[in-house]
Amino acid sequence: MPLPKAELHLHIEGTLEPELAFELAARNGVELPYADSDELGKAYDFQDLQSFLNLYYELMAVLRTERDFEDLANAYLARAAAQGVRHAEIFFDPQAHIARGIPMGTVVEGLWRALGSSEQNHGVSTRLILCFLRDESAESALETLEAAKPYLDRITGVGLDSAEVGHPPVKFREVYEAAASLGLRRVAHAGEEGPPEYITEALDVLGVERVDHGLRCMESPELVERLVRERIPLTLCPLSNVRLRTVDTLADHPLPAMLDAGLVCTVNSDDPAYFGGYAGDNFDAVRSALGLNEDRLRELARNSFLASFLEDDEERRARYLAEVEAYEFS
Ligand code: HPA
Ligand code: ZN
Repeated sequence: MPLPKAELHLHIEGTLEPELAFELAARNGVELPYADSDELGKAYDFQDLQSFLNLYYELMAVLRTERDFEDLANAYLARAAAQGVRHAEIFFDPQAHIARGIPMGTVVEGLWRALGSSEQNHGVSTRLILCFLRDESAESALETLEAAKPYLDRITGVGLDSAEVGHPPVKFREVYEAAASLGLRRVAHAGEEGPPEYITEALDVLGVERVDHGLRCMESPELVERLVRERIPLTLCPLSNVRLRTVDTLADHPLPAMLDAGLVCTVNSDDPAYFGGYAGDNFDAVRSALGLNEDRLRELARNSFLASFLEDDEERRARYLAEVEAYEFS
């Protein structure tokens, strides 16, 4: 039995496995510029975040109907459940779909067809987080929040993703203020490729409660001290960092130093279909490459539930935390 955990940094579009991409392409009559899985596989050798994003956005062309989004989410939930994920807070990128003529309603309703029955079907509780694309304009983010208003009963929070450098958090001050006044929780990617200052800005200007990645905080001792003091969780994605060359090898990952510093770290998969592993695979990888002991692994699992947006269901959080404490490593 795998260690129970929550996944807090997961882009649903990043769970599109090549096999499902070809299946949906055939179903929807979409032509992909790759003959087969072998040829597509060659496109997964990424140099940086942007080179990954190019493929990520390209393959989204196959997602067209509610059923497509439902199938995508069910495939993820089944894989996540098998790796011990008990709770998943799932990002989606509506602007990337709206730009292709797929309305907000198709995306949210389709995802909800899977998420709404996920507890019964997969044993995984879920939350949905709408991400704004930071390389699009602030106006576009405001329009996207407006388009999401009919669906806010299904959306727990907002996030910020896509190309980071050159798109500082301050660009999205207004839309985050609007989201906060709608009662939405706030997170943002910061300090993946961008500088530590983006992490500080996400906290001070956007009011984020968790930082996605946040890896580059390690360049600023003052920032580390603040993150520790304020117990701001970081959603780390070790296999993603290796594949996007944010760290050279997994053995070089700062996770052990971050835990030693007292940071509230969690381990997540980001875009598992692109980066070589789901949540459990990331745990296994850091365990073997970094020699994390059982106390550290349990700490990571505990942190994942403590950092999750389960304030509306504390009974469930307590149940999950009890599962973590009772877990026996094999
Ligand atoms: N970083 C930024 N944006 C993203 C990512 C990521 O790892 N995955 C999907 N969108
Ligand atoms: Zn991400």
